[in-house]
Amino acid sequence: MFCFRRAILTLFFMFLLYEVDLLENGLARTPPMGWMSWGYYMCGIKCEGNESKCLNEDLVLSVADTFYDEGYQEAGYEYIIVDDCWSEKARDRNGKLVADRKRFPRGMKFLADYIHSKGLKFGMYTNIAEVTCMRYPGSKNYLSLDAQTFAEWGVDYLKVDGCYVTEEFLNVGYIRLGKYLNETKRPMVYSCSWPYYIEFIHRKKPDYALIAKYCNMWRNYHDVQTSWEAMIGIVEHYRSSYGEMAPYHHPGQWNDPDMLIFGTGVLTRSQSRIQLAVYVMLSAPILISCDMNKITAYEKQLLLNLDLIAVGQDPLGIMAKPYKFHGLVLWVKPHLPKKGDSYPTFSFALVNLDIEDVRLDLKPGLYGLNSTDGYSMMDVFSGHHIKNITLHDTISLIVPGHDVLMYTMYPL
Ligand SMILES: *[C@@H]1O[C@H](CO)[C@@H](O)[C@H](O)[C@H]1NC(C)=O
Ligand SMILES: *[C@@H]1O[C@H](CO)[C@@H](O)[C@H](O)[C@H]1NC(C)=O
Ligand SMILES: *[C@@H]1O[C@H](CO)[C@@H](O)[C@H](O)[C@H]1NC(C)=O
Ligand SMILES: *[C@@H]1O[C@H](CO)[C@@H](O)[C@H](O)[C@H]1NC(C)=O
Repeated sequence: MFCFRRAILTLFFMFLLYEVDLLENGLARTPPMGWMSWGYYMCGIKCEGNESKCLNEDLVLSVADTFYDEGYQEAGYEYIIVDDCWSEKARDRNGKLVADRKRFPRGMKFLADYIHSKGLKFGMYTNIAEVTCMRYPGSKNYLSLDAQTFAEWGVDYLKVDGCYVTEEFLNVGYIRLGKYLNETKRPMVYSCSWPYYIEFIHRKKPDYALIAKYCNMWRNYHDVQTSWEAMIGIVEHYRSSYGEMAPYHHPGQWNDPDMLIFGTGVLTRSQSRIQLAVYVMLSAPILISCDMNKITAYEKQLLLNLDLIAVGQDPLGIMAKPYKFHGLVLWVKPHLPKKGDSYPTFSFALVNLDIEDVRLDLKPGLYGLNSTDGYSMMDVFSGHHIKNITLHDTISLIVPGHDVLMYTMYPL
């Protein structure tokens, strides 16, 4: 009897611990969507005679205008994030960070106010070391002051890089900064690069349970480069690391495969379909990085495809499970809407990273579908309902080289 009670008590406290074991700031209930400067503009400080690659106030305001005027905001694109190289090289006499006086003449609070006036959100960047990756002032000895400064400026999202520190400091610095961010009382999405540095710089296994306790999202893998090969590397990494990452991926806590490379001219139509399909199947953050004027009409149509975005922004936030399948990868993801309590909708993405076409017979019933009334099958890219299927149907498909087929199966 005594032991039984103790067991119940232990279970009860384990439950309590589990309940408080995640960062709960109420943010990022679905994966953040928006724009971030780094992928395309990088440092963006060589502005003279190079306006089109300049990271400055005009650029950030123009992204806000494009989001507001061209339907991006309605589709869910919300955060506008300024990455590294935004500051002066020196702090002010009180130790506060100062925005670059030439490129951001009205300061960061001005940007935040403008972005907020459009109903959008503002993100910024720092690094956990004494300097940032590009050697601007970093937050290491100013964690509390910088948290306060970002809060004063109206920042809604903070990307925190992990260059130039030891593994030991990564494991304490992110926790400390998270505590100071919380103490400002301003809700800020906390994006950590912590596991990337643990795994790829310090060559250890990231402790995702610990990371999920302190961060809303985290980078697992290398910075995206502007190429198809880099994109394949990312897709393959998330496939092979599914087992490690999926348990810690859910509303409020996201694995982050880094920015899209839309609008950079390197992807064919079908390659851009692959990148966005995989990201929405992963329930990954969707961060565009480019000159918004260079997004092609086709890319824009994909970015604003509400059937596709709905899969990525599904409130259950499940990371699709990958299956290797005749030279391609099938990703399967259950999501809302549910029929009753028991029958979720499922999306299937068949991704062919090879150049050859692949023919296959897909039996959707093998991957968790369980409504005996069958499913209505929709092609996500066209929005067409193709046919109704049963749990026993086999669908013959051809996935062209470097392409993806994506279907959503709604329970009937
Ligand atoms: C223009 O800016 C980009 C991004 O910062 C930089 O890589 C490039 O070298 C610059 N070009 C010139 C001509 O300064
Ligand atoms: C601070 O942490 C508490 C406890 O987890 C949480 O309830 C609160 O929303 C957090 N506040 C901010 C601003 O992050
Ligand atoms: C159907 O599958 C879903 C998700 O895999 C599961 O949650 C649900 O319990 C299943 N329903 C029945 C009736 O087995
Ligand atoms: C699929 O089933 C639904 C519900 O039974 C029906 O309304 C619809 O017409 C069917 N669609 C096709 C293409 O057979």
